[in-house]
Amino acid sequence: MNWDELKKVCSECQNCELCNTRTNCVFGVGNENADLLFVGEAPGEQEDLSGTPFVGRAGQLLDKFLYAVDIKREDVYIANILKCRPPKNRDPLPEEEDACIGYLREQVALINPKIIVCLGRISAMRLIKPDFKITKEHGQWFKKGNYLMTAVYHPAALLRDPRKKEDMLEDMKKIKEKLLEN
Ligand code: URA
Repeated sequence: MNWDELKKVCSECQNCELCNTRTNCVFGVGNENADLLFVGEAPGEQEDLSGTPFVGRAGQLLDKFLYAVDIKREDVYIANILKCRPPKNRDPLPEEEDACIGYLREQVALINPKIIVCLGRISAMRLIKPDFKITKEHGQWFKKGNYLMTAVYHPAALLRDPRKKEDMLEDMKKIKEKLLEN
């Protein structure tokens, strides 16, 4: 599938129950040739309303960290594991992830990034390994196929616990370095 086909199929998706409660399918945004792909968990309220990932409070905090390490949001691609918002922002159900993950796989194949950064535990458990421990393993590097992968704290976790922001900044600096090396 090409980008247009993928976006159309995704916008009309009825693979799971979340299609009944969504306002918009939140496909993803950014540079379709990016070296760096960020993958979050699922759209929240603002994302559902706007159709764009990471535009709410967590997204604004992510923007600050990108700015801090001189990475432009328009140079990266940002997507989520789930393209539709779970009611009341509950965690994605395994069957919802299974129903949706194919879209992300197609996105990864089309973008062919050098580095994939999981935003938070849910994304890391799905993309890096099922027993991923975010507190212990954030900022570590994993090689999967052609891709270098790492995970950082989810920006929403930083809003809940600002003490984690120091680690986030260190991890983002390492990501920037890796990007320049590769
Ligand atoms: N949290 C996510 O994981 N993704 C978004 O797009 C917004 C908030």
